[in-house]
Amino acid sequence: MKFFAVGIFSLLPVALAAFGVTTSGSNMVVDSGAGLVTTINTSNGDITSLVFNGKQLQDPSKFTHLSSGLGSATVTSSVVNNIAVITVKTSTITHYYIVRSGVNTLYIGTYASAEPSVGELRFIARLSKSALPNGVVSAEVNGGSVIEGSDVFLLNGQTRSKFYSSVRFIEDQVHGVTGSGVGVYMIIPGVGYETSSGGPFFRDIDNQGSAQQELYFYMNSNHQQTETYRTGFFGPYAIAVTTGSAPSASLDTIFMDNLGLQGYVPASGRGTVSGTYSGTFSGLPVTIGFKNSAAQYWIAGSDGSFTRNMMKPGTYSATLFEGEIEADTGTVTVSAGRTSSITLAPTLSRPSTIWSIGTVDGTPAGFLNADKIQTMHPSDSRMGNWGPITYTIGSSSASSFPMAQFKGVNNPTTIKWTASSSQIGARTLRIRTTEAFVGGRPQITVNSWTSNAPSGMGL
Ligand SMILES: *[C@@H]1O[C@H](CO)[C@@H](O)[C@H](O)[C@H]1NC(C)=O
Repeated sequence: MKFFAVGIFSLLPVALAAFGVTTSGSNMVVDSGAGLVTTINTSNGDITSLVFNGKQLQDPSKFTHLSSGLGSATVTSSVVNNIAVITVKTSTITHYYIVRSGVNTLYIGTYASAEPSVGELRFIARLSKSALPNGVVSAEVNGGSVIEGSDVFLLNGQTRSKFYSSVRFIEDQVHGVTGSGVGVYMIIPGVGYETSSGGPFFRDIDNQGSAQQELYFYMNSNHQQTETYRTGFFGPYAIAVTTGSAPSASLDTIFMDNLGLQGYVPASGRGTVSGTYSGTFSGLPVTIGFKNSAAQYWIAGSDGSFTRNMMKPGTYSATLFEGEIEADTGTVTVSAGRTSSITLAPTLSRPSTIWSIGTVDGTPAGFLNADKIQTMHPSDSRMGNWGPITYTIGSSSASSFPMAQFKGVNNPTTIKWTASSSQIGARTLRIRTTEAFVGGRPQITVNSWTSNAPSGMGL
């Protein structure tokens, strides 16, 4: 009998309170009814407590919010059909936390009518480091010494930075931090990036391990701005709290269609683009991007066709990418409830070459240190020696050619080429660069002849 009784009790949830919202003083407490209890400060919209199955996940001194906090905000709540909507409002921001009965997920949406004056729009969860010690290792900086700016550190002989947690938007649907029996994950599903900027290959900070465990959704920033910012409804995105494992990227947010959120466009107000392409460079993944001043989307191409759904109505510039390089552009108009079509084909010049180093794909993939540059500083001892190197046509491999040239570090790069008599004559040397900093740009010397310095390089 004793064993039987123990068995029964272990099936019962432990002291779960009922779903709902209660407010006492400046604390608004939202209970999922399934183990997640979120407390929001009604003076400013900060999340000041995030308790999961009795464990505090929120850092006690630095809170969870947009930007570095909104200062002051009007916080209201409503509960309808087992859905709690918490609205945090300022003159330019309407930020939502939405909790469904029985689901340990904060569904989030951020309407911004203007870019915040700090010049970026981000959501940051500053979580308890002791409850959630495990983040992205290359972004764990706690106790490190600063080596560049205020954000790149040296720790245990490795360079570390929050920037080394970034993942291309096209792949970044779920990222999170974990601890014993608990995981907190940011999910950016479906159309979650439509109001962000930078396109499918843009990447931004996901995580930093400081005295807190910081979990981010950077909607836009000037860390490496490539495009004008957008305004409107950002998201939906979500924070899912689990017993450790990562949640699915295909978060169902369709229930939000009926909540009347500011700036939110439901599925019924959206359309589809279906298209074809041909003649792309073999071996490179094909991505089709769409953008206008209000929204951006992308979809992978496969076997010459693609279908991108859930787009807001409007006229878009469409881009065919081979790898990350723009190979063709077109225009397409999207209407709600309709499917529009477009045909794309590469117009990118790929002249035949006597020799070439690397692949024209808009990235330094395959070059020396290209596999490391996104997760460590160029000075990191784990990097391959930057040189300067001498590259011999016919015998050197592309993996010995540096992915970046620094005037003070590996200048010049020497390419040795012995031309046969039939190869001598007027020839063109093309150098493709993906980006440049502080006015850096390539200049060449061939035997005794030196080119002019190019006037400058944008991104
Ligand atoms: C709520 O915010 C106000 C205003 O910033 C602050 O004075 C107060 O201490 C906060 N309350 C909590 C519990 O953090």
